[in-house]
Amino acid sequence: MNSTKNTIKKNMIKYADVIVDLQAGDTGKGKVAHFLSSKEEEYTHVVRYNGGGNAGHTIYHKGQKIVTHFIPIGFAYGLKSVIGLGCVINVDDLFKEIEDIESKGLDVRKFLKIDKRAHIITSEHVLEENIESKIGTTKKGNGPAYRDKYSRKGVRAGDEPKLQEFIIDIHKEFYGDKEIKILFEGAQGFELDIDWGDYPYVTSSHCTVGGAILNGVPPKYIRNTVGIAKAYSTYVGNKNFEGDDPVFQNIRELGNEYGATTGRARQVNWLNLDVIKTAIDINGVNHLIINKLDVIEEIGVFKLYYRDKLRKFANCDDFCFFIISELQNETNKIKIEFSKSPLTV
Ligand code: IMO
Ligand code: MG
Repeated sequence: MNSTKNTIKKNMIKYADVIVDLQAGDTGKGKVAHFLSSKEEEYTHVVRYNGGGNAGHTIYHKGQKIVTHFIPIGFAYGLKSVIGLGCVINVDDLFKEIEDIESKGLDVRKFLKIDKRAHIITSEHVLEENIESKIGTTKKGNGPAYRDKYSRKGVRAGDEPKLQEFIIDIHKEFYGDKEIKILFEGAQGFELDIDWGDYPYVTSSHCTVGGAILNGVPPKYIRNTVGIAKAYSTYVGNKNFEGDDPVFQNIRELGNEYGATTGRARQVNWLNLDVIKTAIDINGVNHLIINKLDVIEEIGVFKLYYRDKLRKFANCDDFCFFIISELQNETNKIKIEFSKSPLTV
């Protein structure tokens, strides 16, 4: 009897917070993930839930610039950094990223974990996208890797000899006898989501809270869904996104809107509040962070799209007040914060 009692394990996920991008990527998810990870005892695991090397998260850790593509930021604070089963991995690029992080004096190998079910991006996948990419992908092989996953021809991380030191089973990791507190770090964003995005100008994975929970954490554990947006919009790819206004060039320069993964100039436009509202609904956002307000403050022009019309505001306060009053209502209480400078710790 006693031995049976001892083998019963407790389900120990305490909570999970999910970071979701409400626009077309590059809203500062990495910086928010880094900032939240720094809170003492708040999380045990930071988990990337979708995408692969197409993501580019620029983070300033104690004054040092780190650009991550595959690895969630937890390692910077000694938390487990898990690449979840919703992700795809290019093994050579992953090792380059590990070396790059190590060259900055940070231990990452000790904290990196990869679920055995994540899929592998092969050199054929990368080659295929470099020959043809009509929608203007990052050419990192994501689309072909997810296609092969769904057509059941893919190779999984657990079968890749070079990754064995990092391989875990997320089920065993999260449902053992330890208390688990998860921060989900997303990649890409709502407008790039395979289902909700502006198809076909989308990525190949789920960039919503739905993409997070498929990594083994059912909805009952979700505590906060943190939506990230910028005070203006950007997009990288082949559709025509930027308006005619020459002010967008100034925003691009001031906001340093050049891709962290491909170096491409990001197209710029005004904030689209209709998109933000939809993304808040679909993700169940209860905490909204709007980054880079300082950029439009310096430009001194305050505009946004609302109900398909462009609206202009006299000053920054009016602009922020309008956003708050439109997003905040009796039934939907959202904590809204504007960030004027990069979140650094
Ligand atoms: P982070 O995580 C911005 C865009 C590409 C292209 C489309 C499909 O840094 O926010 P893909 O290579 O994913 O098949 O390309 O999605 N894209 C991103 N744009 N930030 C990203 O990631 C992106 N990842 C993909 O430019 O239009
Ligand atoms: Mg990016």
